[in-house]
Amino acid sequence: MNDTIASLMAHRSVRAFRDTPVTEEQLQTIVAAGQMASTSSNVQAYSVIAVTEPSLKRQLAVLSGDQAYVEQCPLFLVWCADFYRTCRASEMYLGEETTYEDSTESFMVATIDAALAAQNAAVAAESMGLGICYIGGIRNRIAEVAELLRIPELAYPVFGMCVGVPARQSGQRPRLPVEAVLHRNGYDPETSVEAVKGYDVKMVRYLRERTEGRKSTPWSKIMAEWLARPNRLHVRAFLEARGLLRR
Ligand SMILES: Cc1cc2nc3c(=O)[nH]c(=O)nc-3n(C[C@H](O)[C@H](O)[C@H](O)COP(=O)(O)O)c2cc1C
Repeated sequence: MNDTIASLMAHRSVRAFRDTPVTEEQLQTIVAAGQMASTSSNVQAYSVIAVTEPSLKRQLAVLSGDQAYVEQCPLFLVWCADFYRTCRASEMYLGEETTYEDSTESFMVATIDAALAAQNAAVAAESMGLGICYIGGIRNRIAEVAELLRIPELAYPVFGMCVGVPARQSGQRPRLPVEAVLHRNGYDPETSVEAVKGYDVKMVRYLRERTEGRKSTPWSKIMAEWLARPNRLHVRAFLEARGLLRR
């Protein structure tokens, strides 16, 4: 195991932070490392908004479903898929003839770009001794988040990310065994699904220990409930109104 893999394998989401600010130099390094992620056709269709102002963080914490650590963390990064800048750049050449031929595919390009950059940034932050937690909760009230942060058309906030010095060492959440996710030379449904059984046992043990016996639901049952719940159905109309995901 080398240092990079050791750092990846030590990941856990951090939800309690010290007051220590993230320095400007750290922020620049984290974002620059994020930017070196691969990007479809070099379009770099993402932006990131660094939020440090306490009142903004407070409002974002509320909009994310009262997640206190959004306010508590010294730095909250909002990762956006972004074709606004790309279109503005195109205007330099085509002026008013610039068009954006929206499609599900280009929506995916921007969203994947944002996620890859964010994960690179997360790895960079963790390698510097900082902790992170992704916050998909910002999509609970996505229109209000976009308005609060003045995010323009053709861009949308994909997720937030708390960044800061961890206040304490949190436990590590076990993952599915490699056999569940690794298929060789073609999809192997039997091995993949079978591997979940052992994981259920492991997760029940993990939850019992972590919650002093209060929680013990197997992972597959949690997933059954998750799959059956319609999730953030307002997001589609919001994206369409921004000029995204129309076809
Ligand atoms: C896109 C995304 C959105 C997430 N949103 C939230 C969130 O809103 N609140 C939260 O506490 N954790 C959030 N998480 C963290 C996950 O719950 C966490 O990564 C997962 O349970 C695995 O735990 P670990 O990161 O500690 O290994 C999110 C993670 C991802 C990748």
